[in-house]
Amino acid sequence: MTQVGGQEPASYDTLGGGPFFEHFTRRFYEGVAADPVLAAMYPEHDMAGAERRLRMFLEQYWGGPTTYSDERGHPRLRMRHAPFAIDPEARDRWLACAASAWQQACDAHAVAAAPAKEFWDYLHSAAFAMVNTLPRM
Ligand code: HEM
Repeated sequence: MTQVGGQEPASYDTLGGGPFFEHFTRRFYEGVAADPVLAAMYPEHDMAGAERRLRMFLEQYWGGPTTYSDERGHPRLRMRHAPFAIDPEARDRWLACAASAWQQACDAHAVAAAPAKEFWDYLHSAAFAMVNTLPRM
């Protein structure tokens, strides 16, 4: 992780620990449920499970508890997303949900600007990397 402007790099702790990740994923999935394209892709009867999987993954990625891999093994995110047709539209809808959740969670947990930006940059580039389908014509 790179250090920005001499400030603390992003980590589980500098982002606000468990409460930050809970807040982010709760808001994120509220956005997913309200988006017709995304809602159709996610498991209708297991949104709480999906929310938990994303939270555990992000917590682990940023140096928090390793519950994700303890329960689910290696993340292999591209492979796990292969069953879903993720085109640029789905990516942008996902990012819109993420942007709103990110803003709210960073404000609520008073996350400093540098780790907040680092977290966002990660979500943005990871979302671009998850695209596996050409745009609809
Ligand atoms: C680009 C748009 C994306 C779409 C449309 C999308 C869609 C989905 C869907 C439909 C699922 C299945 C829900 C479940 O049952 O867990 C899923 C799972 C998951 N996604 Fe995404 N995703 C996207 C991007 C991302 C990104 C950028 C990340 C990480 C930063 C991510 C992390 C995860 C994780 C950790 C899981 C659970 C994997 C597992 O353990 O089964 N996704 N995603």
